Amino acid sequence: MLNAQDRDIHQCDGGWVPVFVDQDKGIALMSIGFLLEKPDVWRGPKKNALIKQFVSDVAWGELDFLIVDTLPGTSDEHISTIESLRPYKPLGAVLVTTTQAVSMGDVRWELTFCKKTGLRVLGIIENMSGFVCPHCSECTNLFSKGGGQELAKHARVPFLGCVPLDPQLSRSLEEGSDFLQEFPKSSAFPALANIAQQILAGASSHSS
Ligand SMILES: Nc1ncnc2c1ncn2[C@@H]1O[C@H](COP(=O)(O)OP(=O)(O)OP(=O)(O)O)[C@@H](O)[C@H]1O
Ligand SMILES: [Mg+2]
Ligand SMILES: [Zn+2]
Repeated sequence: MLNAQDRDIHQCDGGWVPVFVDQDKGIALMSIGFLLEKPDVWRGPKKNALIKQFVSDVAWGELDFLIVDTLPGTSDEHISTIESLRPYKPLGAVLVTTTQAVSMGDVRWELTFCKKTGLRVLGIIENMSGFVCPHCSECTNLFSKGGGQELAKHARVPFLGCVPLDPQLSRSLEEGSDFLQEFPKSSAFPALANIAQQILAGASSHSS
């Protein structure tokens, strides 16, 4: 998605140097994908140790935000992630669901997990929420609509919005091109921009 595959990680005095994806060094990345030559099978303890290292042994420098993308679940790795971040007072979790039952079931588990571990939920996003036809702009709902909002209401957490299924978005994700630059008129653009703004607003109210 960020066109950073096959990049190497180097060491400096401050630890691992993250991979920078743009000229201005605006986005720094760290991933297990940079460290392994080929896919491997790891047991829990090794994974948990690496998660801690990704927080403490990477020369992140001054960051505005650290975004941790996790798989769905409430496993040991999620607990390690929260424990490693706790000293830095994490802002909270953004939970993404589709309205399919399996995905909403996962998010219900995540909600309980966040509650038990004391992690604030910044909000829920409903992704793949309808498909806007590129020819006639009519919106078709692939799955039932409104499940994300319903979940949020039930859990009393903010609902951040719906992101439609957007062929232009999946194309830029596949090609690693800059969606914001290339497709400002696409259907997902205003949805994503609005969600980002809400998260930023929540972040500034958190720090003040
Ligand atoms: N709104 C969208 N419009 C078009 N394509 C999308 C949209 N959201 C996600 N996709 C595509 O669907 C695929 C899965 O999306 P994504 O990786 O975000 O899911 P995920 O839930 O994080 O999956 P995983 O559990 O494997 O991490 C990707 O190929 C992505 O490009
Ligand atoms: Mg994912
Ligand atoms: Zn159409």
